[in-house]
Amino acid sequence: MFLVLLGLPGAGKGTQAAFLAQHLGVAHITTGELFRENIRRGTELGEKARPYVESGRLVPDEITIAMLLERLQEPDCRRGCLLDGFPRTLAQARALDEALARRGQAIDLAVYLRVSEEELVRRLSGRWSCPTCGAVYHETNAPPRVPGVCDRDGSRLYQREDDRPEVVRTRLQVNMAQLQELLDHYRGQSKLREVDGEQPVEAVREQLLALLAPAQER
Ligand code: AP5
Repeated sequence: MFLVLLGLPGAGKGTQAAFLAQHLGVAHITTGELFRENIRRGTELGEKARPYVESGRLVPDEITIAMLLERLQEPDCRRGCLLDGFPRTLAQARALDEALARRGQAIDLAVYLRVSEEELVRRLSGRWSCPTCGAVYHETNAPPRVPGVCDRDGSRLYQREDDRPEVVRTRLQVNMAQLQELLDHYRGQSKLREVDGEQPVEAVREQLLALLAPAQER
């Protein structure tokens, strides 16, 4: 199954994707994490992406599409994957459709997690992430058992550089400008589903599982 999770920064894509990918038995691909990993390792790709990621702007399509298409070639994506943070522009959505069509495959569903701007700002300002396993916490909504320490692997949690209030504002504006076109793209293919992402994490998860059940049976 090829599944796309759409939503503005902080909508809960990463939180839900980690569980869903495991449940579906497919790879979880998150372009934001691929960029952050390259930035941490100081690769050429990371250095190209750094100024965009740290200021909350989109990395140019040319760089992002090439990175994603390369990742899609890996064996764990042969039968499907869950895409979190990609596509984010119409050009990316079209490039993805074309790449899958060349393999005789297609996106099965695109699910939009709808959350208000006020709630997004609240979530991003309280987010803590694990640099080792990528687990996501929130200081009040989903705190780790020991403050500042990952429940899964004991790593020290950190706050993302792009979660600073001024960068959050840019990220929301930039992503809002692109979102409608993406929603229209998948609506036009009758693949768009919408979930109220403002509910508690478990309720969102239940709705996602209910939406995916028919597609899994196909
Ligand atoms: P990326 O890492 O993808 O960031 P994003 O889209 O801004 O999404 P986030 O990771 O911030 O949010 P999320 O929806 O995953 O929410 P989360 O689950 O963490 O991208 C970073 C940057 O990389 C971009 O700005 C850009 O520069 C670049 N980039 C990436 N992809 C690109 C592309 N395709 N093209 C060009 N550039 C690209 O949840 C947030 C918080 O809320 C957490 O604290 C969580 O615990 C909490 N939470 C989650 N769900 C709930 C809930 N239901 N109730 C209460 N709290 C909740």
